[in-house]
Amino acid sequence: MATSISTISISSLFFACLVSLFLHFLEKGCALHDENTLQSHHHTLRVSSLLPASICNSSTNGHSKRASSLKVVHKHGPCSHLNLDKASAPTVTQILSDDEFRVNSIHSQLMSNSSQNSPQKQDPQANLPVNSGASIGTGNFIVTVGLGTPKKDLTLLFDTGSDLTWTQCQPCLGSCYQQQQPIFDPSESTTYKNISCDSAECTQLSSNAGGVFKRCSTSTCIYGIQYADQSYSIGYFSKDTLTLTPTDVLPNFRFGCGQSNDGLFGGAAGLLGLARNQLSVVSQTSSKYGKYFSYCLPSTSSSTGHLTFGKGGKSNSRSLKFTPFSKNSNNPSFYFIDMTGIKVGGQKLSIAKSVFDTAGAVIDSGTVISRLPPAAYGALRTAFRKLMKDYPMTQPVSILDTCYDFSNYNTVSIPKISFYFNRNVEVPIDLSGILFGQSVSQVCLAFAGNSNASSLGIFGNTQQLTLEVVYDVARGKLGFGTRGCS
Ligand SMILES: *[C@@H]1O[C@H](CO)[C@@H](O)[C@H](O)[C@H]1NC(C)=O
Ligand SMILES: *[C@@H]1O[C@H](CO)[C@@H](O)[C@H](O)[C@H]1NC(C)=O
Ligand SMILES: *[C@@H]1O[C@H](CO)[C@@H](O)[C@H](O)[C@H]1NC(C)=O
Ligand SMILES: *[C@@H]1O[C@H](CO)[C@@H](O)[C@H](O)[C@H]1NC(C)=O
Repeated sequence: MATSISTISISSLFFACLVSLFLHFLEKGCALHDENTLQSHHHTLRVSSLLPASICNSSTNGHSKRASSLKVVHKHGPCSHLNLDKASAPTVTQILSDDEFRVNSIHSQLMSNSSQNSPQKQDPQANLPVNSGASIGTGNFIVTVGLGTPKKDLTLLFDTGSDLTWTQCQPCLGSCYQQQQPIFDPSESTTYKNISCDSAECTQLSSNAGGVFKRCSTSTCIYGIQYADQSYSIGYFSKDTLTLTPTDVLPNFRFGCGQSNDGLFGGAAGLLGLARNQLSVVSQTSSKYGKYFSYCLPSTSSSTGHLTFGKGGKSNSRSLKFTPFSKNSNNPSFYFIDMTGIKVGGQKLSIAKSVFDTAGAVIDSGTVISRLPPAAYGALRTAFRKLMKDYPMTQPVSILDTCYDFSNYNTVSIPKISFYFNRNVEVPIDLSGILFGQSVSQVCLAFAGNSNASSLGIFGNTQQLTLEVVYDVARGKLGFGTRGCS
């Protein structure tokens, strides 16, 4: 009797294991606890959830419960205020090619020690330095702030890789590109002020890296910024009242009032600079918020995240873990961190410490796809492909070389991925940060390798999705928490 019961239970266990094999494409032997182990090392994904939603899910807003908090949304998609038509949404190929522009410009800024404010070439038409090295990409997130008195709402790209905040300004002496909201008109603001050329504030312009330059027109301070993709903004360097929230009103905020603007800003009125040098919002508001801000980037274009200044309000995330910013004298604007390892499907990859140390890394809100040292990416790709070997692979897309065709599946099982940073901080990447693609027939591993082992690694915005990311700049540390938004 006992024998037959155990035979039955063994065979039903065997059957359960077969089912679990079928469901989870288990590659190791089937043991009693594999089901649980598998669950914890894999994400189960409904393939239909990869398709974009068409309405904004307003119950996802993580910002409304906090003080000093703005709503962050994808530039394209149903939650965007920009109401861009579907046809103007960039394709995945376009996003990835713009992303390469940004990454190349970040790499070139950090390689040349002395290039700031020493443009080699002048573009005769715009009279701007060419390839001065600022960086922009189209895969950006936007926030809406108020400028002037009475305040006018402006939707800006938010960028931790830029210091200068700018917006297009009337009367657009040179030219303005199409934007969704009315263009800011300084003559309608009672608090607008020009900055004079001989002031210390004007001098600050030239001490900032990242492609900003300074000129004078009679006695008025003129700024210019050109991005690596040839987008630019030039105009008066000015001061006016910046309204972040109804209770966060900042007089004399210094920004660029752009009289000549062009580029891929996708209907946004300009850019909000959140980098760490003097001109950034973070530095200009340091007495109010103590150089402390946090954000959460929403996982889909139909959900919303937040950008919060100061410690105000409690974070949704219970378990923040902090890694120190690393020192880098080459560039005062970027946020450098030390990447130390990668875990895939529960297994930490064996990657020599020197691989990460040679390259160094930054966290950047504007780079879409994280860039890894070639040896680190190679190890990640090998491990991921091995765990995904039962799914049919398909053509690469631009820089993404590990792509799958999920069209014949309802659900798929995706290995979990974590990144490690200095102080053994493990950051689990959300499922939305593991895959990238435009259709279920071509879904790719959302990471890429640098071609040069000494090029900087970048922790990009796809991998930051849904994470609570806390910049405690004054204390020199960066915090990560899970489930900052959805
Ligand atoms: C909206 O978001 C909430 C919170 O994340 C979620 O529970 C709900 O299912 C979402 N609704 C839709 C229609 O996607
Ligand atoms: C940049 O400058 C630092 C110190 O000034 C130096 O140690 C480093 O080798 C330089 N890097 C390059 C790429 O020239
Ligand atoms: C700012 O400077 C420009 C150029 O000199 C001038 O046309 C404009 O009237 C000035 N605006 C204010 C408010 O001073
Ligand atoms: C990689 O970058 C370093 C530092 O900029 C440079 O000296 C080297 O030539 C590059 N190697 C290749 C293969 O491009």
